[in-house]
Parts: sequence; C-alpha cells; structure tokens
Amino acid sequence: MRILVCGGAGYIGSHTCLGLIERGHSVVIADSGVNSSPRVIPRLRRLAGVPIPVHRADLRDRAAMTALFATYRFDAVLHFAALKAVGDSCRRPLDYFDNNISGTIVLLQAMRGAGVRRLVFSSSATVYGEPERVPVREDAGLSVMNPYGRTKLVAEQLIGDLCTADPEFRAANLRYFNPVGAHASGLIGEDPCGEPTNLMPYICQVAVGAREKLRVFGGDYPTVDGTGVRDYIHVVDLARAHVDALEYMVRADASVTVNLGTGRGVSVLELVHAFERASGRRIAYEIVGRRAGDAASVYADPSLAHALFGWRAQFDVDAMCRDAWRWQAMNPEGYRTVARREPASSRGRRARIGGSRAVDVV
Ligand code: UD1
Repeated sequence: MRILVCGGAGYIGSHTCLGLIERGHSVVIADSGVNSSPRVIPRLRRLAGVPIPVHRADLRDRAAMTALFATYRFDAVLHFAALKAVGDSCRRPLDYFDNNISGTIVLLQAMRGAGVRRLVFSSSATVYGEPERVPVREDAGLSVMNPYGRTKLVAEQLIGDLCTADPEFRAANLRYFNPVGAHASGLIGEDPCGEPTNLMPYICQVAVGAREKLRVFGGDYPTVDGTGVRDYIHVVDLARAHVDALEYMVRADASVTVNLGTGRGVSVLELVHAFERASGRRIAYEIVGRRAGDAASVYADPSLAHALFGWRAQFDVDAMCRDAWRWQAMNPEGYRTVARREPASSRGRRARIGGSRAVDVV
C-alpha cells in the first residue's frame, strides 16, 4: 500500500515509517517540523534503503493537504501529527485544540475529498483519565484530565462519527501506553525539545550528564515501592503494531480501538534500576512530591490487539533501556549531535547497520 504518514518525522512516526517499509509498503511523509528535526530524514532513508518523499506541511493548511492528496493516490493515512505535552497543553489549550483537533478535521476532509477511507490514529491511554481498575481494558470509562487528553478523546469521537456517517470509512484508534526506547541502530530516537517531561528521556539525560538528577514524583503511592507504575512499551513494538493494525483493518474491513502496551506494570524505581544495569551508569535521583494529575498505577490489558491481529509486545524493559541508552549515548544532544560512537556497554548486541557504528552528520 502507499501510505501517507502525517508526523512521520517525529519519534513514533519515524519508527513506524521503517516498520511500514520493512513490510513492503511505500511511505510519503507530511510533517510540519514543529516538533521534529529535519535530520531524521536522511537517517531514515539510509536505514530504509529506499527513497522517502517528504513534504513540509501542516495539517491545518488546507491547500497543502489538498495538493498532497492530488499528487499521490494513497491507500491509507497514519496520523501521528500532534502536540503532546500535558503541562504545555494546560498553558496554551487553544494551540492544542487548533493543532490536534482542527488539524485532524482538515486531514479528514482532505481524505474525504480524495476518497481515502482508511485511517490509523495515534490515540493515548490518557483517554482513560485515572482508570478505575488495572489492567485497563478498551471498554473502561473514558475521561479527560487536561487539554491534551481532551484533544485525543475528541479526535477519537470525531473519527467515530465519521465511521458512522460513512459506512465505507475504517479507522484504527491505537491507545498507546508509555512508548520508550529507540531503533537498534541508534540512528533514530526520541529527541524532546527543552527539558523532558516524560520519565525515560529524563533518565537518559541524567545518564549523559545533561541533567543533574531525576526528580521522582511521589514515593508514597500504594505500589510495589511507593513510586508510580506505568506500562512502558518499546517503540519498535509500537511501530509494528501500527503495521499489523493497518493490515488487519484492510484485510478484515473493520474499524478497531485497541490498547498498545505490554500488560506489565513497572515502577519508576524499577525503570531507573533497569536503566542503570543497561547503561552501567548511576542515575542520581531524589524523591519529591507527587506530580498533579498522576495516577498511582496504569497498565494495559493488551489482549484485544492479540486476539484481533496477533500483535504482542516482544521487547522487555531491559531491551527498552538498552536501546534508549544506545540512542542517547550516540546522540547526547539528540539530532543536534555531531558524531558519536556507540557506547561500549551496548556494542555487539545488535546487528551492525550499514557496516559502520559511527553516526553520520546529516
Ligand atoms: C504522560 C502524560 C500522558 C501522556 C504521556 C505521553 C501526565 C500526567 N500524563 O504520561 O497524558 O499521554 O505522558 O506523553 O503528564 N516521573 C517522574 N519524574 C519525571 C517524569 C516522570 O518520577 O521527571 C514519573 C511519573 O510520575 C509517572 C512515570 O514517571 O509515574 C511516567 O511519567 P511520564 O513518562 O511523564 O508518563 P505518564 O505520566 O504516564
């Protein structure tokens, strides 16, 4: 299939582009560049070994979207293009509504105009709010804790209404738990702007010395060691789930809403210790007060994705930490890094890519 990947230069989008190409699909990227680096593109092309057309376009730009759909005949769209920082969304909700919701509406209109009726949407476990029980199933109650979460829930609902109105429209809403890790090459990974708000990128920055210590938000939760429990999922497993969901949606001619997690809860301190083992570095941390809006324990029941299309996460927490560390050590300043070698602690644990371990400057 020929797939339009909106937000394909971002963290999850870039890994999914590789997953699509590995399975024989062709990919066209549309990305506004607001939260991605242009330097990901040559690296992606090198890893994929095929040309990947890239269009700098914002989903809200109706003319650009119409032109894109007039240029290519797409079989489906994967939609990753959204702002995703919770605190930021509380400070500027209108920007989140506009980017995430208006952008989705313009995309859906462009798809409709071109007769493209297959969509895979990046949703989030945030749509469950503070879940009443864990593991969380897809039929759990939905609620909103912040403007970012509202944009994901509203987008799911808009897509649902469209599926009702157009009996030929099919969508897969993929509710991610906590994506972490990086491609085994160390060439692509997560590169947050400014101070990371999520746990794994923060740990990575402490490990390379860019931050002094991790602040652990809360040590008095009713969990295994008092720290928050989440369901971390390797981004490569997540990428594969997109391809599986897309192919299922087309093959079964069905819309789906599924959780994507491992089903295993891991505490903040368990993740810190796993990272220390994987990297050989000590992670300085301090336990501070709880972060507003955090739940004690959130992890998925991922059995529906397995029942429908046979997907199951394969990588464990040690692999997530090893790959996150390789990416961070090779790219201490993310895509701004000039050239670094793979860390000794992770050498020899993966197939070499392109015969070279050095990161190229792109
Ligand atoms: C957060 C968002 C969620 C969003 C997801 C993906 C909140 C409340 N939730 O999920 O809506 O979909 O990111 O971007 O922001 N932690 C620390 N120290 C840190 C950072 C995090 O102790 O510096 C802890 C948190 O308290 C939590 C765990 O680590 O227990 C994971 O946090 P994080 O990576 O921010 O993910 P979520 O809060 O699950």
